[in-house]
Amino acid sequence: MDAQEAVRLVLLYLHLIGFALLLGGFAVQYFAGRYRINAAILWGSLIQLVTGIGLAAPLRDGNEPDPAKLVVKLILALLIAGAVVPMRRRESVNRGHFLAIGAMTLLNAGVAVFWT
Ligand code: HEM
Repeated sequence: MDAQEAVRLVLLYLHLIGFALLLGGFAVQYFAGRYRINAAILWGSLIQLVTGIGLAAPLRDGNEPDPAKLVVKLILALLIAGAVVPMRRRESVNRGHFLAIGAMTLLNAGVAVFWT
């Protein structure tokens, strides 16, 4: 394995940890019925932005993902972070706002997997 591939795999690994934090944090609050932005959601949304932008670099020797896919993922990730960061100190947010965060997270994972 060359150094570039190692960088890509480390970024992908961190990207999956960010996804686990974001969706896991969302699930905990959803099942508790308390629509609060917890630390896992906050850090998960930021990790996804940073690691996703890193993964969007041309690291696959020409076999790169469709740029349109990356733009869609970036827009969704910015919308998620925009819905998360300003609300991080609130006791709770309204149900629609909270569900939109989870829905956009699942949508972005779907884009990652099904848009080949
Ligand atoms: C909340 C935001 C995000 C979520 C939930 C998410 C989810 C995922 C998941 C689950 C994978 C693994 C798919 C696989 O291994 O087949 C993945 C891979 C990837 N993601 Fe994200 N992602 C997010 C944000 C971003 C952003 C902002 C970018 C860059 C603009 C990005 C670019 C990528 C790339 C390049 C891959 C590697 C797989 C590929 O598309 O070829 N992601 N993402």
